[in-house]
Amino acid sequence: MRKPIIAGNWKMNLKIAEGVALVEALKPLVADVDNVEVVVCPMFTALDAVAKAAAGSNVQVGAQNAYVKASGAYTGEISPQFLQDAGCAWVIIGHSERRHILGETDALLNEKLRFALAAGMKVMFCIGELLEERKGGLMNDVIRRQVVEGLKGLTAADLANVVLAYEPVWAIGTGETASPEQAEEVHVFTRALVAELFGADAAAAIRIQYGGSVKADNAAELFSKENVDGFLVGGAALKADSFAAIVKAAR
Ligand code: 13P
Repeated sequence: MRKPIIAGNWKMNLKIAEGVALVEALKPLVADVDNVEVVVCPMFTALDAVAKAAAGSNVQVGAQNAYVKASGAYTGEISPQFLQDAGCAWVIIGHSERRHILGETDALLNEKLRFALAAGMKVMFCIGELLEERKGGLMNDVIRRQVVEGLKGLTAADLANVVLAYEPVWAIGTGETASPEQAEEVHVFTRALVAELFGADAAAAIRIQYGGSVKADNAAELFSKENVDGFLVGGAALKADSFAAIVKAAR
């Protein structure tokens, strides 16, 4: 059985006090939820304070990006080691906003993934096609490339600390959600790819989140699909009650 994992990607939102207040409000709402992993991913500036607020609760903390060196002359970057110092166990790597706005390549994301894992972090690794890629019949090619290139050099054992997040770019922040059938189709394809690359056991164990306009009112339907193991939530994660409702839909 795969334990569901619901993560809130706060993106570039919520000041320190707002993030702390959200976690303080969230803690009692999810206090009795022990069969779902719950993660919040604030901006770097709020990580330390949010991690302190979350300490001792079942809310875990993640970052949204990490670099491929531990320390040194890398102006503006932050390493897994410093994220861990701020109380962070998880990191999101390969979000479509980093791929498409910041220009991060498959090769760099693979390096980031391997470096974060080597540092002992758990990683949510994002994949997903653009609308024009889907329309052009390239969806499976894109997913295959992102998985093959992204997971290059990993072992089946490494995958115990990796969660895949399927986030169709056309569904992010648009209010347009993939249908449960569309999500399941890509999750099945992705799991089969993991089986091909790492074997059946690793494929059966790896968790695949869906992300893209997940809300309290569509989460249960998406989660009912066999291969949807949780969510990576953007907008609806910015309020404790809507995020908690999504957690409860996966309970
Ligand atoms: P929205 O839930 O706002 O569509 O964002 C999804 C996302 O990108 C999570 O990483």
